[in-house]
Amino acid sequence: MENGKSDLVWWKKGIIYQIYPLSFMDSNNDGKGDLSGIISKLDYLKWLGIDCLWLSPVYPSPMADFGYDISDYKSIHDIFGTMSDFDRLLYETHSYGLKLILDLVPNHTSVTHPWFLESRSSLYNQKRDWYIWREGDPDGSPPNNWLSNFGGSAWEFDQGTAQYYYHAFLKQQPDLNLRNNDVLCAVLDVMRFWLDKGVDGFRVDVMWHLIKDKLFRDNPPNPEYNEKMTSFSKLLPVFSCDQPEVHDVVAKMRDTIDQYNDRLLAGEIYLPVNQLVDYYGQELNGAHLPFNFHLILEKWTAEHIYACICKYEAYMPQDAWPNWVLGNHDKPRVASRIGYNQARVAAILLLTLRGTPTIYYGDEIAMSDNAVPKSKILDPTEEPRDPQRTPMQWNTNQFAGFSHHKPWSDVNDNYINTNVESEKNAPESMLSLYRELISLRKKEPALHAGSFFPIGIQSNIFAYRRDDPISGRQFLIVANLSHDAGVISFPSRFNTDSEIIIATHGHLKRKRISKEISLAGDEAVVALIK
Ligand code: GLC
Repeated sequence: MENGKSDLVWWKKGIIYQIYPLSFMDSNNDGKGDLSGIISKLDYLKWLGIDCLWLSPVYPSPMADFGYDISDYKSIHDIFGTMSDFDRLLYETHSYGLKLILDLVPNHTSVTHPWFLESRSSLYNQKRDWYIWREGDPDGSPPNNWLSNFGGSAWEFDQGTAQYYYHAFLKQQPDLNLRNNDVLCAVLDVMRFWLDKGVDGFRVDVMWHLIKDKLFRDNPPNPEYNEKMTSFSKLLPVFSCDQPEVHDVVAKMRDTIDQYNDRLLAGEIYLPVNQLVDYYGQELNGAHLPFNFHLILEKWTAEHIYACICKYEAYMPQDAWPNWVLGNHDKPRVASRIGYNQARVAAILLLTLRGTPTIYYGDEIAMSDNAVPKSKILDPTEEPRDPQRTPMQWNTNQFAGFSHHKPWSDVNDNYINTNVESEKNAPESMLSLYRELISLRKKEPALHAGSFFPIGIQSNIFAYRRDDPISGRQFLIVANLSHDAGVISFPSRFNTDSEIIIATHGHLKRKRISKEISLAGDEAVVALIK
């Protein structure tokens, strides 16, 4: 465990904030967010207290998958602005003392990327092997049973050369062949392009997908599949992702990152904890932060979440740095998943657990999923993600102050109450809770650097402690993950004499805790141990 020193690198000490650029702030009134819009909101982000912005893709793209289908890795899509807007954003972000990381999407390109156009042009093109081409089965069916994450077969037949290409996502997103060293070199070259500009690192898209089984063996059926699941879940993707050789690719990326000062390599990885931690790499030569989505994935009960926290801590390799994510552009928003009241409890967990927190834009004001009518859905996937990608709610003006033009996706009607401006002035708002928690976390080495001790769980309530051995400061965190009242008594071997300093509900503040605490449903507290 960490020794509580607070002279940590920024990505250990700090908080990451994910911006979905299309929906953050529109500066030119075309209804779509852009880079200049983000610049105009840096003062808000500084005020909020976050340390690092992560931008979802801003590169040229036909937008089949909202920018995750890239046609040029080294340029900026004109809906977001120009390269000089980007340079200005980077400069301004740094002037505010903040960091900026980009999404890197090395698993696949757009079908319109020049690499793919060449690759598909003939069997003999020198870039043929840059993508994953296979003959169909003798009866003409796809080479194996692999499924696309977004529904249907993962193989698309290409008339021109009468072979199939593999796409783990949309058919407009052919997978690159990262077993080919030229492809890997091209990806590392893209990384250097942005790192040379001064970008502070990357969030690598679908890191666990980067290498596929060399023999293209069929995936086995999933015995736990039921019809409520997406069609992708019919099979267990044991041969199409998380292959041992993926760690060599990640290590090469890390090596590139390490040639620069203080840059971050984070990775999107949806895997069970025991497999997830492998992405730290042997001798920690992998991702600095393999993103941990278990607060999103686990059932929201005290039992499941407490077990998940303890398991994650137990599996953490020596000297690896943990992290926690509560929301992103692919999953229903936390306030919709578990309800507003539990989202306040979740905020306390996110900002007091050990490890780097990532906040999804708008979760700090309790934005919820917008019920986008079917006719207006734009995301082409089986479980459309439009509801969690709606415009940021800044104030009570038309379109929530996001734009003067009708936005690309409707603003959630709740913006009249749920918006930055109104919440700034309301001490009981979600925004005030986030701001208080962030400011405490930044100030207290026990919270941003200290060790973690699980204290116990009783019915719906669990407790843990964060300690800074240097200053001796200790915090007790107690959370009720249900709507029912309950009591937790603490084992006598722990000193739990403390005073509540932050709570989901104002009436709890300054109360003293000794050997037990009763909490009403949906209450959670952070207390300073005396
Ligand atoms: C990642 C992104 C998601 C995208 C997919 C394919 O999961 O977060 O938005 O659709 O990769 O690129």
